[in-house]
Amino acid sequence: MNFLFVLIPLLICSPLASAGQSSAFQNPDPHWGAQFFREKRFSFDHSTGCISCHAPEFAFADGRRKSPVPRRTEDSVSTTLRNSPGLLDAQILPAQHWDGEFVDPTELVMRGLTGRNFGWLPHEADVAQERVFQVVTRSKSYAAWIQKQPKRDRAALLKNVSSDISSYLKTLRMKRDPKGDFSGSAYDRFLHLNHLPKSPHANESRLSYINRLSSAIFTLESPQWILDSSPSAGFSSRELAGLRTFLDRASANCVACHEPPEFTDHLFHNVGVSQTEYDSLHGIDAMRDFTTPSFASLLGTTPPPALTAEHDHRDYADLGAWHVLSQFAAKGREIPTFWRDLLCKLHSNCGQSEMEATAWASFKTPTLRNISRTAPYFHNGQAATLEDVVRFYRRSGALAAMGRIRNADPELVPVRMETGRIDDLAAFLRGLEEPAEE
Ligand code: HEC
Ligand code: HEC
Repeated sequence: MNFLFVLIPLLICSPLASAGQSSAFQNPDPHWGAQFFREKRFSFDHSTGCISCHAPEFAFADGRRKSPVPRRTEDSVSTTLRNSPGLLDAQILPAQHWDGEFVDPTELVMRGLTGRNFGWLPHEADVAQERVFQVVTRSKSYAAWIQKQPKRDRAALLKNVSSDISSYLKTLRMKRDPKGDFSGSAYDRFLHLNHLPKSPHANESRLSYINRLSSAIFTLESPQWILDSSPSAGFSSRELAGLRTFLDRASANCVACHEPPEFTDHLFHNVGVSQTEYDSLHGIDAMRDFTTPSFASLLGTTPPPALTAEHDHRDYADLGAWHVLSQFAAKGREIPTFWRDLLCKLHSNCGQSEMEATAWASFKTPTLRNISRTAPYFHNGQAATLEDVVRFYRRSGALAAMGRIRNADPELVPVRMETGRIDDLAAFLRGLEEPAEE
């Protein structure tokens, strides 16, 4: 696997290895992190590890719409709220989870090990911590790890297991060439072969790079193709036609948010996924009448949680980043600068109401690299194939143009394309896959 090749240099020169750590904590070790990632005994019924929902063969997603979680008689939860995302290069995004809930990867891991995905109920964080303690202190396989721990109390061990896992996550990287440019996918090899620009120059803005790339792609004459009989490994006229549609702001407009070379703008948008799910259960345009409290009215209350839309519950919906921000409002805390900066990138004049509106039903723009390995798609897994994704955007763009997607991102409005373009676009997206094994 690629990530094994990057493991060794990372071990030697990881900035974490030299960062000043308090004496209670061992330097994070991705080798142990990889083992903890596979450990199922941390979960309530020994059924589930990180790897159950983040499997290497699916680029660390799991191929399911939503993932099963350990059953508990105390609640009726049987799956995760959202679709499990792939984890390759997950750290290029400014915050983790579809709604940006986590900015600290170690905290994400710690909350995972002690949370519902591992079968623990909200009041069982202590029991979960005790479980981690028992497994790492009693199991022979972790004897060498325990010996290296400067402090062996429950909290320190949970923290160190989590930071080892989090350092392992940093090693799950896509392939780069010696200059640091992406190099693994057929698309990358096509750019290389045709001397097309792979990334912005030093000090070049992303917009200028995208304009430079687009004009080179649109004027490309007699391109050299990447020919390969295995699926996703070639890049020829069909993929190039798809790439042109992708980059065309007067057509699919995908590039407005999925900016090369990472194929994400690192921001949050509402492209209408939650509304599509809600309206399919409650009727066309039903989402227009969904009531959401203003942030000002939430002070001192428990804000509505993110819930999957259900036929019998008109008040269930997943509003993404809105839920994360509503927590600050309920506690009377200012929206942190991190969020302010992200949400206000799209507004010149950005106050509280603009931030509330931008966050409503917004989710982060995922990278599209390796997308062919992480079906199904979107935060709720509602699109089974890449062709379904493209059909979704055709419809959503048309509805947005009619003003019928509540709080639609402005960049959704221009999205339009002929049906003949669907297969080309999907073929291009498959060209962003890098082979799992060398
Ligand atoms: C039962 C399934 C399940 C298990 C077990 C699980 N995850 Fe996840 N993981 C998910 C889902 C679903 C999401 C998306 C959550 C969301 O956005 O609300 C996610 C999100 C993530 C993300 C954020 C990725 C991104 O791009 O935003 C990381 C990192 C992650 N998981 C790592 C882990 C680690 C490490 C473990 C083990 C401690 C773990 N997961 C265990 C299902 C699971
Ligand atoms: C306005 C910004 C925006 C535009 C324009 C846009 N996207 Fe997206 N894309 C997003 C966001 C945000 C998500 C996550 C949405 C969700 O799950 O609710 C997403 C999700 C996706 C996914 C699913 C990724 C996954 O991991 O499940 C694919 C595939 C995708 N977009 C492809 C495209 C294509 C192809 C186009 C052009 C037709 C396009 N996008 C246009 C912002 C955008």
